[in-house]
Amino acid sequence: MGLPYYQIVGGNRLRGVVPISGAKNAALPIMAASLLCEGEVILHDVPHVADVASLSELLTRLGVEVERRPDDALRLVVRDELNCKAEYDLVRKMRASICVLGPLLAKRHTAQVAMPGGCAIGDRPVDLHLRAMRLLGADVELVSGDIVAKAKKLHGTEMFLGGPFGSTVLGTANALMAAVLAEGTTVIEMAACEPEIVDLANFLNKCGACISGHGTPRITIEGVKELRGCEYRIIPDRIEAGTFMVAAAITNGELELENCRLGHLMAFVDRLNATGVHVERREGRVVVASARRLEPIEVTTQPFPGMPTDLQAQIMALLCLADGNSVVTEKIFPDRFLHVAELNRMGARLHKSGPTVIVQGVKRLVGAPVMASDLRASAALVLAGLAARGTTRVHRIYHLERGYERLVEKLRAVGAEIQRLEGDEEY
Ligand code: EPZ
Repeated sequence: MGLPYYQIVGGNRLRGVVPISGAKNAALPIMAASLLCEGEVILHDVPHVADVASLSELLTRLGVEVERRPDDALRLVVRDELNCKAEYDLVRKMRASICVLGPLLAKRHTAQVAMPGGCAIGDRPVDLHLRAMRLLGADVELVSGDIVAKAKKLHGTEMFLGGPFGSTVLGTANALMAAVLAEGTTVIEMAACEPEIVDLANFLNKCGACISGHGTPRITIEGVKELRGCEYRIIPDRIEAGTFMVAAAITNGELELENCRLGHLMAFVDRLNATGVHVERREGRVVVASARRLEPIEVTTQPFPGMPTDLQAQIMALLCLADGNSVVTEKIFPDRFLHVAELNRMGARLHKSGPTVIVQGVKRLVGAPVMASDLRASAALVLAGLAARGTTRVHRIYHLERGYERLVEKLRAVGAEIQRLEGDEEY
């Protein structure tokens, strides 16, 4: 028996309403932050995706009771603080497991987290996370592939968290979560400004933390003695919303996105507008429509508020069908281009040179069997399949299901011909 795959018959114009789920990348650090809290944490809009299941398993091993309530809220309560170890079997499955490092160190004074290894989107170091922990006063060592961090007490400090590719999202999350219980004031310079970091800070403040400046490159944290759990709603997933925007555009359709914050997607919408895709707010929803030829454009990924790397593969799928040559440059993960060869299998004309891809527009894409490599690359292949002539089979969809909630169901509801089939092929 092979693995499940998606079968897509392209060509349908998508039309209708799509509900956007809560953001996976906001939910994960906020779930990890429950380690810091006394009493119960109730989270609304945590998406049903495999990464949430993996982190729930890790938190359970770390003594947290994790439960889905009948109203779909996720309830987390710390029951036992003895285990401080995040083992390699789970960290390997999901790099975001690294975000238990800060909370474990701050609350339990010890953290042992397997060092994440390589990843399909390229080199992903954690040096900035470790720098933050050390500056707060922890002893940090690497022991048999594990990061071991210890500190009787953390102390407020000033830290610069910029790296060669700018700010770090999960590094900022770890620094924030460690500093909230430190003694004194911490200032993070070159902090990530992503909406997911703002959401984490808002959650922590609701639990009693004293954080200001979130959403800017300088975050200030006044340490407090304890945090109490609270009830909180996770922000909408801007990357899922962006993916559906491309789904509307690539099929010359019209989609209305519910629970979508345009303010989180300004740079991306700017690029869509430049290609000729129409995006507007209408009665609390965001309407995306495209009925004409696509202009070629330049796209460069950057930290927020710039164009997100997590939408680079999807916009590239769209630009495959533009009327001319586009240029896509990746400034966050320069090797995040595994979708290029697969899109070429579908008739795209993509030429990679270092961190840049020249996209030569073609008249049409053609369905083909393709292989997903990472979460967003997989989404790009599904999008290309929706527009392609004939049948596309996307294999290794476990990547996709790590981060998109009910993707097949949502696409079918707006007219796509897509099915999740049990694998009869060896992939
Ligand atoms: C987060 O990863 C997201 N993951 C990623 O989304 C996203 O692509 C990325 O931010 C960039 O926006 C989650 O939120 C769970 P970074 P993160 O640290 O925090 C370099 C998806 O598809 N760097 O902001 O791990 C790094 O190599 C995922 O949902 C260092 O040099 O990314 C990169 O070039 C994939 N040293 C840049 O910083 C460090 O210690 C930004 O990475 C850490 C990072």
